[in-house]
Amino acid sequence: MGRFRTEKDHDYFKVVDDAINAYTWAAVVKLQERGVVGDVLGPVGQGKEAKLVLAKDREGRYIALKIFYPVPVRFVKSRHGYILGDPRFRGVKISDQLHLVELWCRKEFGNLARAYEAGVRVPRPRGFLRNVLVMDFIGEGNTPAPLLHEVGLEGLDDPEAVFLEVVKNLEKTYIAAGLVHGDLSPFNILYDGEAPWIIDWGSAVRRGHPRELELLRRDVERVLEFFGNPVDPSHLFKRLVERGSAKGKIEVDEEGWLLVGGKRILE
Ligand SMILES: Nc1ncnc2c1ncn2[C@@H]1O[C@H](COP(=O)(O)OP(=O)(O)O)[C@@H](O)[C@H]1O
Ligand SMILES: [Mg+2]
Repeated sequence: MGRFRTEKDHDYFKVVDDAINAYTWAAVVKLQERGVVGDVLGPVGQGKEAKLVLAKDREGRYIALKIFYPVPVRFVKSRHGYILGDPRFRGVKISDQLHLVELWCRKEFGNLARAYEAGVRVPRPRGFLRNVLVMDFIGEGNTPAPLLHEVGLEGLDDPEAVFLEVVKNLEKTYIAAGLVHGDLSPFNILYDGEAPWIIDWGSAVRRGHPRELELLRRDVERVLEFFGNPVDPSHLFKRLVERGSAKGKIEVDEEGWLLVGGKRILE
């Protein structure tokens, strides 16, 4: 702190924040003009890298705007204060950060859409522009559904049913969508009182990615740990990988389970 910070820097950060807010707001207005977004109500949540803003669509249904902020600007401030202090670097830095954040938003939208189309229980994606992603709002009235982490295992009426739903969606993600979430944990699963919803798809990778198996194993372990490891994580991981490379028809049964060679994953 202190050393590189001057009054001027402080003004500068305010200018940066204002610029980002104006830029974000312009994207929201564009989405309104396109008919994707109706009234904007206000922030209802905050994640690691994004704010969740509640809005309505044109029919008056609640929707969620996930607004990605170039948080790294704040890291840049502490780590490379001298760069921000140097007027020659100013324009470059902001636009680079915004560019990255837009790529991230685009990537998350693409992954979310892919998962949605494969039948994974995710909020339905509705559109995106720049750093603003629009999707269905998961919650009761205007209150967002809690995270599985917040509900806790003891807060679930039927933990086994929720566990099975999570496994079902994990398998659909891997086999039907061809994705590995990459940041799956009780912090990225919402629970609406009935079913789990998988959110936060920015880190997902396509199958074939060099880290596919490492990320899949970690996703499996983190999820099973929350449920107290009702099945052996290595076993489930192996089953997923086996079934992922099985030849032949994949069907879906009446309860939404994938059938590979006619069998469910936990049979
Ligand atoms: N579609 C949604 N409906 C309701 N709440 C949501 C929705 N998407 C995200 N949230 C809330 O916003 C928070 C941040 O979203 P998330 O996608 O996890 O962003 P981050 O990458 O910042 O962790 C979540 O923890 C959750 O509480
Ligand atoms: Mg998250």
